[in-house]
Amino acid sequence: MTQDVKPTDAAQKETVTLIDNSTGKSYEFPLIPGSIGPKVIDIRSLYAQTNHFTYDPGYTSTGSCQSKITYIDGDAGVLLYRGYPIDQLAEYSDHLETCYLLLKGELPNAQQKGKFEDDIRHHTMVHEQINYFYRGFRRDAHPMAVMCGVVGALSAFYHDTLDINDPQHRMIASYRLIAKMPTIAAWAYKYAIGQPFIYPRNDLTFAENFLHMMFATPCEPYKVSPVLAKAMDRILILHADHEQNASTSTVRMAGSSGANPYACIAAGIASLWGPAHGGANEAVLNMLHQIGSKDRIPEFIKKAKDKNDSFRLMGFGHRVYKNYDPRAKVMQRTCHEVLDELGVRDEPLLQLAMELERIALEDPYFVEKKLYPNVDFYSGIIFRAMGIPVSMFTALFAVSRTAGWISQWNEMIGDPDQKIGRPRQLFTGSPQRKYVPLHARG
Ligand code: SDX
Repeated sequence: MTQDVKPTDAAQKETVTLIDNSTGKSYEFPLIPGSIGPKVIDIRSLYAQTNHFTYDPGYTSTGSCQSKITYIDGDAGVLLYRGYPIDQLAEYSDHLETCYLLLKGELPNAQQKGKFEDDIRHHTMVHEQINYFYRGFRRDAHPMAVMCGVVGALSAFYHDTLDINDPQHRMIASYRLIAKMPTIAAWAYKYAIGQPFIYPRNDLTFAENFLHMMFATPCEPYKVSPVLAKAMDRILILHADHEQNASTSTVRMAGSSGANPYACIAAGIASLWGPAHGGANEAVLNMLHQIGSKDRIPEFIKKAKDKNDSFRLMGFGHRVYKNYDPRAKVMQRTCHEVLDELGVRDEPLLQLAMELERIALEDPYFVEKKLYPNVDFYSGIIFRAMGIPVSMFTALFAVSRTAGWISQWNEMIGDPDQKIGRPRQLFTGSPQRKYVPLHARG
């Protein structure tokens, strides 16, 4: 169990001094160490003491909370879930065990693991009325739009049986969300292609169930490939949590007002959809199709480096990783395994992606800015090889990230320090002025 870090315990030890040169006044703020990683300057009293705010668009230097769940060392390319390295979990664990770890903080013993799997398995069905929500969408609606709507609608089914201050109620909601996301996502795909919904089966694993709901039909038995199921399970592990990323911060912000967890997860889905975030896996595939052939790579590398061109090399770069994203390494290995298994080793898109990666990693621009492939660079190629349509890539990311979102939400609600999120601003608009009647305006 990790040591509880109490700011007051450390506050008496170390401080930082801020000197306001405009007034000559100096102010002291506690410097708080975590269990590992950078210390934080506790500036909660800054405004009260100095009448100044901090200014940090995108929160590049701001810690929003204390957390015990996920640790990232961006320079070393390290990712730990509750202290366990992601490559070890990807190698030896499975997605549901990882969900248990993220939620509860420790790896389960055999009895706990069996019970958790059984509990999740018995929450995979959705209320039959949910079925009707899909019919309101056009068949060509983006699956992420459907996910936002349907997951948000879960609030209408469970909101009245949820006291977010009751840990038991919170855990039931957490189990429901982890269990139902694959069903909701697979049904978004089935609805898009006009096939009947396939219900979850209790004799399949989490990953097998998802692939079965995606690709089975009522007309004949569908056998899930064990290799693809293992690859899918590993991908779900890799995407499960990632510290205070944009969508997780969105879930925490929504939850800080006391909103129910179903609405908070719907907010997280909306944020994940952006191409700068979880939408990048879909954007990588679209970019590779746009590049088309190896001889056009230099043209796109040039565009990516051009400040006047909004084009960015999708699947490259990261706010925190200034080294290779450890997930991308596992993803690259999985990509080769899946394509080998499917006998499409010479898949042109994979060849193109590998050549693009080789050229980019040798280019001074990418080297100087420490832009490496991130988790999204290879995932799209694997999903496409599995027969998953590009439009479903981010929905898959959401299925996995629900474990992290709901774990972070639970941690926040249970944190005695947590308050409603309410940032301030640097106001640069008009000072107060008198109303001008219509007839007097120019
Ligand atoms: C995910 O936060 C998380 O943890 C997210 C995630 C998770 O698991 O939750 O890891 C998942 O979202 C991975 C990232 C997927 N997104 C992409 O692949 C989209 C392409 N990448 C970029 O949009 C960008 O790298 C970001 C958004 C990922 C990070 O942006 P930052 O941290 O705000 O960095 P930045 O935009 O300030 O870039 C620093 C410099 C800039 O140049 P300068 O202004 O300093 O001259 O690097 C350049 C950028 O122009 N740059 C790129 C680039 N990424 C950054 N140039 C070309 N191609 C890129 N991909």
